[in-house]
Amino acid sequence: MHRYRSSEGFSLLLLLLAAAVCSSTTTAAAQPIKAAYWPSYSSSTFPASSIDFSYFTHVLYDFVQADPASFEAVVTPSDAQALPGFVAAAHGSNAKALLSFGGGDAKTTFPSLVSSRPARTSFINSAVAAARTYGLDGLDLDWEYPADVDQMGQLGDLLTEWRTAIDAEAANSGRPKLLLTAAVYFSRSLLSLDSNPRSYPIQILASSLDWINAMCYDYHGSWDTTVTGAPAALYDPKSNISTSYGIDSWISAGFPSEQVVMGMPLYGRTWQLKNPVDNGIGAPAVGIGPGNQEDGTMVYSAIVEFNKKNGATRVYDSSTVSTYSYSGTSWIGYDDPESVTNKVEFAKARGLGGYFFWALGFDDGDWSVSAAVLTNCSTKVHKEDTSSSALAGSI
Ligand SMILES: *[C@@H]1O[C@H](CO)[C@@H](O)[C@H](O)[C@H]1NC(C)=O
Ligand SMILES: *[C@@H]1O[C@H](CO)[C@@H](O)[C@H](O)[C@H]1NC(C)=O
Repeated sequence: MHRYRSSEGFSLLLLLLAAAVCSSTTTAAAQPIKAAYWPSYSSSTFPASSIDFSYFTHVLYDFVQADPASFEAVVTPSDAQALPGFVAAAHGSNAKALLSFGGGDAKTTFPSLVSSRPARTSFINSAVAAARTYGLDGLDLDWEYPADVDQMGQLGDLLTEWRTAIDAEAANSGRPKLLLTAAVYFSRSLLSLDSNPRSYPIQILASSLDWINAMCYDYHGSWDTTVTGAPAALYDPKSNISTSYGIDSWISAGFPSEQVVMGMPLYGRTWQLKNPVDNGIGAPAVGIGPGNQEDGTMVYSAIVEFNKKNGATRVYDSSTVSTYSYSGTSWIGYDDPESVTNKVEFAKARGLGGYFFWALGFDDGDWSVSAAVLTNCSTKVHKEDTSSSALAGSI
């Protein structure tokens, strides 16, 4: 865990880099993080036992919630049934298993949970206890999103107290410290989400979390059906809604790059084109396309099937580092082995700690996307990179 004050500036940054160099040459601590969330609702269709752990170092069980009255972590009967198998599958393959709190449904609980110390304490103690009960290796918070400056401050209070509790528990129990991570917005400021500007408390996140899971996706989708868009563009020549902008916003604000884990989607988003021959990124559209009828999402395995069945044209777009396909008026923007390969090269160049996928069970039967990173990226490592970046190691 690096602690730093941005006022101390560049020389401290150099010291940290030097420390990273030394630690990566003397220990195996700088293993790149290759993570994926496992939606527990899919435990019947995609059980934890079917996860191929050759592609992952960390898996996250999503989601559990906090009780809105007591603020204690709620492990439901179905969680209690699924968690032991999830943990056993991970540990049987030397991967770490984390428990993730929140997700899209938790909006109502977190604001009150973070607003008082007793509520935070109740949540933290019960979350740590749940992790130990089920033999988990860590905890993750997915709050989408703190709504204003006050809630950002209270998120900082929660994480500070959570870190203290985790350190104390490990000291008392003599067991390895639980990991503590958080899924966060793709950029450090939530400027583009609504008109309520707010930024994450970077120094608190850096000192209390092992790493952040930056959700670098959902840039375009069913909320704007007038034009097609690359849902998880690495670059966007026309706006700041891109992974490169988001990742760089964290780093340039002083967040340690090795504590940034870059998210990538194993699903696409679909549009219905206005005119089948005008079919690029930014082409006029009239609605959502095939896939989920409510939000036009389609998991990668279904995209592969759709493309094959419909003889769709696949295009890799190097200006955004994304892939799209079209057939008639159906248009799908997504990530595939090629775009993911190039995104991970970007992550390596930025010295990030690793990457994660949303979500397990969405890749095709051959694990094509998950596997591409390993096949394509490992041979490209330059020796001089191995010191400063966890990801520059063998992936
Ligand atoms: C992108 O962000 C930078 C500052 O981070 C700002 O100066 C620029 O105007 C933004 N560009 C767009 C297109 O919003
Ligand atoms: C990465 O590897 C996959 C096979 O796993 C291949 O299909 C794909 O084209 C490769 N992409 C690049 C950019 O090399």
